[in-house]
Amino acid sequence: MASYQALLTLTILLLLNVPLATPCNFPAIFNFGDSNSDTGGLSAAFGAAPPPNGETFFKRPAGRYSDGRLVIDFIANSLGLPYLNAYLDSIGTNFSHGANFATAGSTIRRENRTLFQSGYSPFSLDVQTWQFNQFTSRSQYAYEKGGVYKEILPTQDIYSKALYTFDIGQNDLTSGYFSNMTTREVIDYLPDLMQRFTNLVQAIYDLGARNFWIHNTGPIGCLPYVLVRVPTIAAKKDQIGCGKVFNEVAQLFNAKLKETVGQLRKELPSATLIYVDVYSVKYEMFKNPGKHGFENPLVSCCGHGGKYNYDVNVGCGATIRVNNTDILLGKSCPDPLKKVCWDGIHYTEAANRFIFEQIADGKYSDPPVPLNSACKSLQL
Ligand SMILES: *[C@@H]1O[C@H](CO)[C@@H](O)[C@H](O)[C@H]1NC(C)=O
Ligand SMILES: *[C@@H]1O[C@H](CO)[C@@H](O)[C@H](O)[C@H]1NC(C)=O
Ligand SMILES: *[C@@H]1O[C@H](CO)[C@@H](O)[C@H](O)[C@H]1NC(C)=O
Ligand SMILES: *[C@@H]1O[C@H](CO)[C@@H](O)[C@H](O)[C@H]1NC(C)=O
Repeated sequence: MASYQALLTLTILLLLNVPLATPCNFPAIFNFGDSNSDTGGLSAAFGAAPPPNGETFFKRPAGRYSDGRLVIDFIANSLGLPYLNAYLDSIGTNFSHGANFATAGSTIRRENRTLFQSGYSPFSLDVQTWQFNQFTSRSQYAYEKGGVYKEILPTQDIYSKALYTFDIGQNDLTSGYFSNMTTREVIDYLPDLMQRFTNLVQAIYDLGARNFWIHNTGPIGCLPYVLVRVPTIAAKKDQIGCGKVFNEVAQLFNAKLKETVGQLRKELPSATLIYVDVYSVKYEMFKNPGKHGFENPLVSCCGHGGKYNYDVNVGCGATIRVNNTDILLGKSCPDPLKKVCWDGIHYTEAANRFIFEQIADGKYSDPPVPLNSACKSLQL
């Protein structure tokens, strides 16, 4: 009976052309994005993320703005791949199983002011795309030289089989608000962001990419740095204390992103494009923290006082020098495993693990494809 049912199920699945749970065996990951998935890019270029970043998992700063691993680390691990090295990192890196082009503070569209003026990274998504372009062409040249290059660089056939992950957009939204734009003005530039995103995904496709896993943006209105830095707009709260307007704009961005990914699916029929609703998973941690083992989700773990334990001028890891001794002001909390927000801007290892566990099986994907099968479109 059981085997008859199994056979029937199999037949139905075959008839429906549903991909069976055969994993794609991605040989590599190439990641694009901002601090949500930066594994050392900004640290390599502009100075290392200070301790206590990394304290929970790596036991030292590891180029990530978190106490431990990011969602991209859990993704790599679950696919049996090493943690991704940053393309910009020149020390001890190994790109045989992919590279990470994300840097903290990256935006989809270029910022007009430097990092020192605005806090935003010069490695916007267009620059990350040029870097990927160089990576594909120059790594082949180096690979052919042999020796250690054959160990630390991928083979040419890897690009079409690899998984391409994206997590970007959050900084494009905060950038408008932090330069005193109105919500209307921020909403007005969303179509421009989508056009640029479309062009850049197409450019990456033209370089051989076929399998895209695209995260939407999170509930920025639940993050202390937005609540503290834009108090007038943050005054309007939802039932759980998040900035209502910011989250509405994030959701509008996401609706447009979902539409954009749908459009790209039509334009690039030989690609698989999965849109992943990370927003809902992140919001759930703020809404029902206790259910998932978290406490006081709006209060950062690492910071320096105030309602949200976040001070714009005294970030996580900030020190002052008194009598020739550095004193740590931006301190960590006793139990980061119970916190959602790490430093007022980024998520903790515990939160990132929760996000990964929720999204991996395809429950939040459109179409509903699990991470390890993201090389096949569902064609029902
Ligand atoms: C940068 O300046 C150009 C030209 O003035 C403008 O069109 C663009 O929107 C600006 N970009 C940002 C992120 O403000
Ligand atoms: C690079 O990584 C690959 C795969 O993990 C490994 O086989 C190789 O030995 C590494 N090489 C170096 C030099 O780190
Ligand atoms: C935004 O407004 C505040 C308060 O008026 C001002 O101090 C700040 O310089 C403005 N920021 C920008 C980027 O214009
Ligand atoms: C710094 O040293 C001076 C002189 O020894 C002492 O009076 C002062 O209290 C010290 N400050 C702190 C914060 O330890």
